[in-house]
Amino acid sequence: MNDATGMPQRVLVVGGSSDIARQILLLLARRRLVHVVLCGRDLAAMEEVAGELRRVGVSRAECLSLDLTEPGGLGELAEEATERLGEVDLALFSAGELGSAELEELDAARVSQMVASNFSGQAAIALELAKGLLRQGSGRLVFISSVAGVRVRRANFVYGAAKAGLDSFAIGLSEALRGTGVGVMIVRPGFVRTKMTAGLPAAPFSVGPQEVAAAVLAGLEEGREVVWVPAPLRLVFGLLRLLPQALWRRLPG
Ligand SMILES: NC(=O)c1ccc[n+]([C@@H]2O[C@H](COP(=O)([O-])OP(=O)(O)OC[C@H]3O[C@@H](n4cnc5c(N)ncnc54)[C@H](OP(=O)(O)O)[C@@H]3O)[C@@H](O)[C@H]2O)c1
Repeated sequence: MNDATGMPQRVLVVGGSSDIARQILLLLARRRLVHVVLCGRDLAAMEEVAGELRRVGVSRAECLSLDLTEPGGLGELAEEATERLGEVDLALFSAGELGSAELEELDAARVSQMVASNFSGQAAIALELAKGLLRQGSGRLVFISSVAGVRVRRANFVYGAAKAGLDSFAIGLSEALRGTGVGVMIVRPGFVRTKMTAGLPAAPFSVGPQEVAAAVLAGLEEGREVVWVPAPLRLVFGLLRLLPQALWRRLPG
């Protein structure tokens, strides 16, 4: 159940070792977070986050093994995580990998993996969870999308295309759930300084994961459907979407 300010008490995270998710959870822990289930591949990294959450007062923080590129177990994972939490107030989708955009480094298997990690695996779990939230009659799904999916660039086109898919899926799911008591929030950050972008030159409007977390909490409190981080990116990408492709491809970064 959400507390009186609408802050979630029971949270499921897909991409449990994500730097952005960690900051969101630390902020939620200062509110009324009671129970977290982290789902992901890196159990050691997730155990570290779970330990940190317990140290700051979260009663239960546990980890479940999940590889989004293995479609077989995704429905079962949603079921298992829901059973552990009892009731899911918030499902946070924070998995992603930048991967490569170099043709010589890509092949059919690699593209399929990138699409599964960034889009299809998360959409599959979200669909199962959304049905559970509908039965519950409450809850929220929060998708960490990206401006990379708003207009796809050559420099990260497989990642960007998959993010565009996830973003569109979230918009459609939001429409399908409208009026049911279950909500969807889409978060569109620009460049965030996390392990995903380590070693890359920071793009304009870059932020830290703490700023994304603060924007997510504000979005939850305000009942927002879409959150851009930082906020000016909404206007910037509103304009960039209109640029002819010949100009778009010349932009640096
Ligand atoms: N950093 C940015 O500039 C930026 C900008 C916009 C949006 N985002 C989005 O924000 C979200 C969080 O990213 P972050 O910056 O926090 O990066 P991060 O720390 O690298 O987190 C990404 C997480 O996704 C997990 N993951 C990747 N592939 C997976 C798979 N096949 N199965 C299960 N888990 C998988 C990673 O786990 P492993 O350790 O097992 O790989 C990691 O926990 C992502 O959706 C990303 O696309 C990031």
